[in-house]
Formats: sequence, C-alpha cells, structure tokens
Amino acid sequence: MTVETFPKNIKNLNYSLRGELVDNIKYIEKEIQTGKNLPFQEVIHSHLGNPHILGQQPLTWIRQGLSLVTYPELFNLPNISSLYPQDIIERSKYILSRVKGGVGSYCDSQGLQYVRETISRFISRRDETSEPDIENIWLDNGASSLIHTSLSCLIEYPSDGIMIPIPEFPLYTAMITKLGGTPVKYYIEESSEKWKISTQEMQVALDKARNKGINVKSLVIINPGNPNGQVLSLESIKQIIEFAYNNRLVILADEVYQDNIYTVNKKFHSFSKVVKSLKVDQEVFSFHSISKGFFGECGLRSAYMELSNFDQSVKTEIRKIINVNMGNNTLGQIAFSLALEPPTEGSPSYNLFISEKNKILEGLHRKAIIMHEMFNKMKNIQCCSIEGALYAMPLVKFSEKSWKEAEKIGMHVDCFYAMECLKNTGIVIIPGSSFGQKDGTAHFRITLLPPEEKIRGVLEKFHVFNDEFHEKYKD
Ligand SMILES: Cc1ncc(COP(=O)(O)O)c(C=O)c1O
Repeated sequence: MTVETFPKNIKNLNYSLRGELVDNIKYIEKEIQTGKNLPFQEVIHSHLGNPHILGQQPLTWIRQGLSLVTYPELFNLPNISSLYPQDIIERSKYILSRVKGGVGSYCDSQGLQYVRETISRFISRRDETSEPDIENIWLDNGASSLIHTSLSCLIEYPSDGIMIPIPEFPLYTAMITKLGGTPVKYYIEESSEKWKISTQEMQVALDKARNKGINVKSLVIINPGNPNGQVLSLESIKQIIEFAYNNRLVILADEVYQDNIYTVNKKFHSFSKVVKSLKVDQEVFSFHSISKGFFGECGLRSAYMELSNFDQSVKTEIRKIINVNMGNNTLGQIAFSLALEPPTEGSPSYNLFISEKNKILEGLHRKAIIMHEMFNKMKNIQCCSIEGALYAMPLVKFSEKSWKEAEKIGMHVDCFYAMECLKNTGIVIIPGSSFGQKDGTAHFRITLLPPEEKIRGVLEKFHVFNDEFHEKYKD
C-alpha cells in the first residue's frame, strides 16, 4: 500500500481536533519530563471535551455498579453490605439477571434489551411523553459511531448533501467526506452577546446548494451547541422542524450536551419531543451519549440514538449496518443505564449521587460565568454568553500584522495564536478555523473543564499571553 493507492475519501479526510497542535502536546510534555526550562510546568488540556482527563471524578454510583457486574464474586463477600450500598447491590444483581452470559458476551446488535427499556423510561420522564418503542432505540460505542451509521444511510453519491452548522463539531465534515458526500454549510450568526441559529440563513444555504444540483437530504443541529454553546429555545426548535419538514430534510439532532445548560432562561427540549407535540411525521435521529453531561465517561464509549417517524424498511436497513459490528460494548451500555436511571430519593445512594452531580454541574455553571466575564475583559477578545455545552468560543480581533505574520508561515492567524499560546503558557486551545467560521474572522475554543480552583489562574495566564501577543503584533 502507498498513499497513492489510498481511497480519495480517506485522503481528503481531515479531523482537525487531533491535528498538528495536539501532536505538539506530547512533545512538550516530554520536554517537561526531561526537565527542559519552559515558561510553564504543566500542559492544560483545555482543548477537548474529555472531563476525566482534567480531573472530573466519575460518579460513585456508576463505578460501583460496574465493579459488581464485572466481578460478581464480590456479591459473596461476607462484608459486602459494608462495602456497597444495598441499592447498587440490588441493581447490579438485576442487571446481571438481564444480561445473558454476563458482560463478556456479545449482545444484540441494537443494544441490551434492558438498557433500551431503561432509555425508553428515561425519555418518557425527560420529555413528559409516553415511553417510546424500544425498537426505535439503538445503542453503539459512542455518538460518533451512531452519527456515522446515520450518515451512511443518507450518502451514496458526491452530490448527496448534508447541512451542517458552521462553526461545527468537525466530526461531521470528516464523516461526510469519508462517506463521499457534500457538506452544505449554514452559518450560526454571532453578535456581541450570543450565537444564534436562524432558519433564514439555513434557507439561503439550502437554496444555494440545491441550485448547484446538490441533493440536500439532511440537516444537522447540535443543541446545546459545540463549539459555540448556544441553547435553542422551544420557538427556534419549532421553526427548525418546520424548515426541515417543508424542505424534506431528515433531522440529525445531536443532543449529547442536554444536561449542560447554564442559562436560567432556557431549558433543554429534545427534537423528538417537539416533533411529537407538533404531530408531524418529521424523521429525526436523536443522539445522546455518556461522554458528556455530568458523567463524562468518554472512555466507556456508549451512546444511543432514538429514531422518530422512520419507515420500517429503513430500520431494517439500519439493522444490517449495525449487525456488521457484532453488537457494542456491554460495560458502556450498563454504565449508561445507571446514569439514566440513577438512585431514587430516599434510597441509600441518593444523597451521594445528587451531591456529586450538583458539584459537577454547578462547578461548570460557575466556570461558564467566570470565563465569559474574564474573556470579555481581555484585549481584542469578544466572548458570547456561554449558554450550554462545555466550551467558550471567543472571537479575537487580530491586527493586520498578525494576519500577515501567520500567512508567512502558511497558517491561519488563529492557528498561529493557538500555537503561540501553547508554547508560552502550556494552555491548549483549538483554533476557530478547525471548526469553520466566517471568512475574515478568527476564534478559538476552550473547554470549561479545567478544575474550578485552577480556572482563574489559567485565565490570568492566558490574559498575560493575549496582551503580549497583541502588543508584539500591533500595527
Ligand atoms: C457535538 C458532539 N457530538 C458527538 C460527540 C461524540 O460523542 P461520543 O463520545 O459519544 O462519540 C461529541 C464529542 O465531543 C460532540 O461534541
């Protein structure tokens, strides 16, 4: 094999969240280990939504359950009741009674039946609707895999188009490219206050693409948004559904950040719930994952998708794709079931669960406020309010000199800025150009995940770097 023999779609693939900048981290960490004199002694991994790597603790309830189902011999310990609360012992025994052959066996490709039942009850509680049919719930190793599955149902020819928000979570362009389709970009509008998704902008993008002969089939919505943290109001969701319905577009609703909302004025509304309430037969793939929220269990790789209003023949085809993978990982599914059906009030694990959950969510909320305030005090930086998800995505106004300096080394100015930031502070940010942005603008994305006791220190360090950068490259 040589690169020349590689499929074009793979060669065209570019997943910018794991590119050159991130490769530099390993190199710098090695330098720190070998005692090289650097202006910092620690790399702050504030680039990825990977909560545990930044010290977020796993929920005891989930980990206790995983330990018991993984090593059932523990049930026989004479002092088991002093080691584990009774509710997790009972839940774990129940789980094992529903998992044929235990966690080391392949499961049904669609996911463990008891987990799908748990998810169905979760959706019903969350949306205050009836329990969806478990035949419409599909599990896989992460939302990434499910998004890939759904996109593969939509893309056959290069002219097949998928509408994606810009800035986007780059997984979408990468997967559309890999599958040989065409991303159709609609821009999320940015004001000094907030990011806003508008159906007018979507219509412009759609008309332009269809006029060029692109067969636009689907619309991706990320709510709450990554990278820009907007949360959609109920009214906006209704408008988007109307837009998708009128234009015959399947909705891919990426809702993995549904627990991460920091604005008191808005709450999470799932697309599937709103579609039901509107009584339209709009097709929706809706994704949720254990990687985000207050769980942050990215390494366990588990997510589900709920299908709304799909024809039975479509589901049969999807099953063929999923069957090829021989099922998905059982421990991730079990962890997800524990996360979505936590201990109930009055049960022995309840207080600890709630205090761990609140500590994480309230901490993220406080950090969102601190970041917003501190960035807006920095020179040439404008940061919209962080309504949800795990990120801030500030706009940076660069001098002409910095644009030119970056151009000389073949970089976008925000890549140059992010590289300089890493070299001078150890703080890893992702340049806005990795997510797409309007031409002539520059941004960066940073996560809310550094620990609360460190966040001000990290931002103060960033403040100094930012001042020095703009001073050095002023016109
Ligand atoms: C918007 C969005 N969708 C999907 C994913 C993928 O999640 P998973 O870890 O479940 O594959 C991520 C991960 O960061 C994300 O931000």
